[in-house]
Amino acid sequence: MSLKFSDFVLLLLFICFSSPTLAHNGDDPITRTMEEFSGYPIHESHSHSVSSLSVDARSLQKQIDELATFSDTPAPSVTRILYTEKDVLARRFIKNLMGLSGLSIREDAVGNIFGRWEGSEPELAAIATGSHIDAIPYSGKYDGVVGVLGAIEAINTLKRSGFKPKKSLEVILFTSEEPTRFGISCLGSRLLSGVEELAKALKTTVDGQNISFILAARSAGYAEEKDDFYSVSLKKGSYSAFVELHIEQGPILEKEGIPIGIVTAIAAPASIKVEFEGNGGHAGAVLMPNRNDAGLAAAELALAVERHVLESGSIDSVGTVGILELHPGAINSIPSKSHLEIDTRDIDEERRNIIIEKIRQSASAIAKNRGVRLTEFKIVNQDPPALSDKSIIEAMEAASKELNLTHKKMISRAYHDSLFMARVSPMGMIFIPCYKGYSHKPEEYASIENISNGVKVLAVTLAKLSQG
Ligand code: GLV
Ligand code: MN
Ligand code: MN
Repeated sequence: MSLKFSDFVLLLLFICFSSPTLAHNGDDPITRTMEEFSGYPIHESHSHSVSSLSVDARSLQKQIDELATFSDTPAPSVTRILYTEKDVLARRFIKNLMGLSGLSIREDAVGNIFGRWEGSEPELAAIATGSHIDAIPYSGKYDGVVGVLGAIEAINTLKRSGFKPKKSLEVILFTSEEPTRFGISCLGSRLLSGVEELAKALKTTVDGQNISFILAARSAGYAEEKDDFYSVSLKKGSYSAFVELHIEQGPILEKEGIPIGIVTAIAAPASIKVEFEGNGGHAGAVLMPNRNDAGLAAAELALAVERHVLESGSIDSVGTVGILELHPGAINSIPSKSHLEIDTRDIDEERRNIIIEKIRQSASAIAKNRGVRLTEFKIVNQDPPALSDKSIIEAMEAASKELNLTHKKMISRAYHDSLFMARVSPMGMIFIPCYKGYSHKPEEYASIENISNGVKVLAVTLAKLSQG
């Protein structure tokens, strides 16, 4: 049988448009690797196989780069703070991608965004995945972003392969995982997990410029009902599983040359606000014996934080004074007020709590010795650690194995929205290597090969969980 030229052109067009691999990635090493797979079953009960999965790495990289342009500081740094203009534009960008992926979109009162791919049995609790896109000042473009854009691409990958979920699959963009603007970490997932005190506190919460949370949220198109933050909370069982893809933010995977980390537990974070007040005064005229310098009290407490953390004797205990502000902030004025924000974490909650108690005692002792007033000692959050679910760990391990990707079980020292999703659903996390473990700084980097591997493991894990 001979082929006419017009038939040949038609055939070529068909191949290009029916195969995203050829249309976008024909020369892509990741795609080639995928094509070399020879049919490991995703799930025994259906014929879908990893050989038919192909990540559109080029588009994904383009999306990561484009999202990074919604920033309030120049490249390579990224700064994207909750409910600012750049955050709103970035959210629009994500919703657009969700729409292009055929997901049905819903947003709640604080701007958690949900994109759902309905399964063949939509009455069953869905499988969720996602992360955040807010970025602390002068950070990088991968923290959180990989877990949002990667989740959308995992869905696209599954769709292209012809997969049909039984349980619905849902991508979640969580509001304000970073505590930058209102001092509360994992704000969206905390509310989803049903933290009622937060729903109440948000009604009177203000940022550093005295802009209320409600006004800020409204400026971004959320919080229409003043009191509706309770409505954000999810019922237990709303999801049958939650899986988050994230860069490791530590050096282990890269150092050991392992492409996939499987998180078994997330360390317990806490944060504390402290304020000291003294009399201030003229830097020349007030003699040293007559001073009660609130700035020096803060400096002494910062050193005490380091000492108490080291006293724990465990490498897993960490403590940071990331914010230290002095008032009035003039070279020739003795600080009359100081404000510190302290972050301390440990995989062992008890040990972390002992550190917090020691910090409290030091703050009081320093105030007494220096004749300043300790006007605030507020534990903003003191969260327990979270454990990953055994069956999700198994699904992630099986997915890595089927994809021929080595993996390592590890703990997450950083916190994530998964810490709170674990309260409403079985939870698991997939880590990928990042350059030198850098994160929360502009040098943060993950290669598209590693990201694509993470997306594949996520896609296969979601597929398995969805059929379960
Ligand atoms: C998350 O950004 C963290 O600080 O762990
Ligand atoms: Mn972060
Ligand atoms: Mn993050």
